[in-house]
Amino acid sequence: MTDTAKQDRVLIFDTTLRDGEQSPGATMSHDEKLEIAQLLDEMGVDIIEAGFPIASEGDFNAVSEIAARSQNAVICGLSRADTRDIDRCWEAVKHAKQPRIHTFIGTSPLHRAIPNLNQDEMVERIHQTVTHARNLCDNIQWSPMDATRTEEDYLCRVVEVAIKAGATTINIPDTVGYTAPRESAELIRMLLEKVPGADDIIFATHCHNDLGMATANSLAAVEAGARQVECTINGLGERAGNTALEEVVMALKVRNDIMPYRTDIDTTKIMNISRRVATVSGFQVQYNKAIVGKNAFAHESGIHQDGMLKNAETFEIMRPEDVGLSETNIVLGKHSGRAALRAKLKDLGYELGDNQLKDVFVRFKALADRKKEVYDDDLLALMNDEGTNA
Ligand code: KIV
Ligand code: ZN
Repeated sequence: MTDTAKQDRVLIFDTTLRDGEQSPGATMSHDEKLEIAQLLDEMGVDIIEAGFPIASEGDFNAVSEIAARSQNAVICGLSRADTRDIDRCWEAVKHAKQPRIHTFIGTSPLHRAIPNLNQDEMVERIHQTVTHARNLCDNIQWSPMDATRTEEDYLCRVVEVAIKAGATTINIPDTVGYTAPRESAELIRMLLEKVPGADDIIFATHCHNDLGMATANSLAAVEAGARQVECTINGLGERAGNTALEEVVMALKVRNDIMPYRTDIDTTKIMNISRRVATVSGFQVQYNKAIVGKNAFAHESGIHQDGMLKNAETFEIMRPEDVGLSETNIVLGKHSGRAALRAKLKDLGYELGDNQLKDVFVRFKALADRKKEVYDDDLLALMNDEGTNA
């Protein structure tokens, strides 16, 4: 394993504003992009991929302004393996304190057929474009798109060429979400072992979620030596999305005993940015989404609520405060028990004796059978009906 890969620090590369925004219908306005970039910068993201400058005038302007404003993060723009693309990207990111050019080309047989380049011609193109980028900027990321479906020998060859031409980060994209955890780890391990110069660069992992394995694949790559994870807030991204930033970061925090790697993310800022990205992209977060879903810290069943009221660790592996929520959400419904009802009523100002609680509980269950969730207002109405005074 290389010196870099031996370190325990994992860089977080957020591509919400580039790969995330590529999700059909997720387009964000200029001001919305600036706001999200600022939140990413404040939460400790190491690299922000702010857009694809050649794609449109709007993308160019957004990347330029984010670059000029960013305080801490490296600001990266995407470009194809084309010198005009790369120049345009540089024009946008050069305003940053720490600019990065990210250039890519599809290296799998399917992707090579599109520009109709044979293997040697593609190697030549990679050498030429990465050299061009490196002459503009010291910080160069190169990606062989569809790496996980590229022949191993050829992948080693193109990665070696990119490193020799000056790439400082090599990103290994699972563009179509095809790999699985063991394979994801073996690929990184193989590249670290076989490619000359691999010791001097950082390997990144960039996973898509088509088979629901993006987070697992990213973590497997980290265990094998990748030290940059590419991800998006809420897992936003094309098709089934990208690796979710909040999942990787919280997994590394909560299971640090078995995955001893650290990030610089302030996890208490997760909930706020998740809500802002959901609002500005128009992509609502599913209720049971890990970490940021509405129900991720909610408990309805009586056994769970009872356990939670006695000791939160019974049914929660992380504290809601750690992701920026003020408290666990005890949702009252037909599965709730007496302990939860008593606790909720106490919060609302009602201290009930055992007999009174028994009576209210019967009426609460009847109400809960008619309604999916019993809200505070419903309970207040129930108590007023009862004529019970606080
Ligand atoms: O998924 C992918 O291959 C990409 C590249 C442009 C890095 O997003
Ligand atoms: Zn991608």
